[in-house]
Formats: sequence, structure tokens, C-alpha cells
Amino acid sequence: MIRVTFVCLGNICRSPMAELLFKNMVKERGLASSFEITSGGTFDYEEGSPFYSPAKETLRAHGVEGEHTARKVTMDDVAKSDYLLVMDENNFRDLTEFAGDAGKGKIFMLLSFASRGGAVADPWYTRDFEKAYSDIEEGCRCFLDFIINSKERSER
Ligand code: 4NP
Repeated sequence: MIRVTFVCLGNICRSPMAELLFKNMVKERGLASSFEITSGGTFDYEEGSPFYSPAKETLRAHGVEGEHTARKVTMDDVAKSDYLLVMDENNFRDLTEFAGDAGKGKIFMLLSFASRGGAVADPWYTRDFEKAYSDIEEGCRCFLDFIINSKERSER
């Protein structure tokens, strides 16, 4: 089992998009039973809020449906996760500080798995939900390829 937690600031835009999209991706590849996938925010001010409509609608336009209720990431998530995938440098800093030693070696920028690297800019501020979607899609696809390739290597 590979446990993945996607993390952004509010858990109403980027990380729920990533959670639902990645769940869909692993299902399409027949790998759903190998993964436990969740998401959370580094801050709690959106706790209990629904999936932000423009983010939800952008995902829907790309064929992925789903609901989400925002929550803050917990130390239990940190302990259980193999990969904590953050969207930008602020998330990286905040989560690294929150997780302390328990987060060592588990926190990665989502786009670090895409060769170009970089951050998924926050559409809450940029209002560019399509760009956020395409960055998240690229990051999730490259992360899944990385997992599949490392599994193949370990079985050789
Ligand atoms: P997210 O976007 O981190 O992608 O969920 C944000 C949501 C809410 C706020 C900021 C970013 N906010 O300031 O309330």
C-alpha cells in the first residue's frame, strides 16, 4: 500500500483537485487497491468548507467528478503517509515546520516529479484554474510514473 497525502494551504482548491484526479488516474490504471489517497491544508481557516466551485467545475470539465470537505493536515497524516505532496514553496515550508522529524524524507513538491519542477500557483489568487489543473495533472501523472518505475525496478 502506498499512502499519499496532497497538501495545499486551504484544502479547498489545489489539494482536493489533486486528490480526486489522482484517485481517478490510479483507478484508470487498475491500481486503486494499491493506494490510499487523501488531502489536507496547512492552515485550518477553511476547515469544513466545501470544494471551491471553480476548482470543482474545472475538474468536472476534465471528466473528474467529486465532492470534498476541507480539513487541516494532521500529525496522523504525516505518520501514515509515504508521500506528502505539496503544491508550492509556502506549503513546503509550513508542512516541514509542522511535521518536524516525522516529515523527514516524505515531503515533496508535486511538480518535482515532472522534470521541469516548479510550483502549482494558487488559483485562489491567480484565478487561473485551468493552469492549476494542467500543472496538477502533469505532477500527478509524473508522480504515478515514478511510483510504477520504482516498483518495477525493485521487482527486477
Ligand atoms: P488552496 O487555495 O490552498 O489551493 O485550497 C486557497 C484557499 C483559500 C485561501 C487561500 C488559498 N484563503 O486564503 O482563504
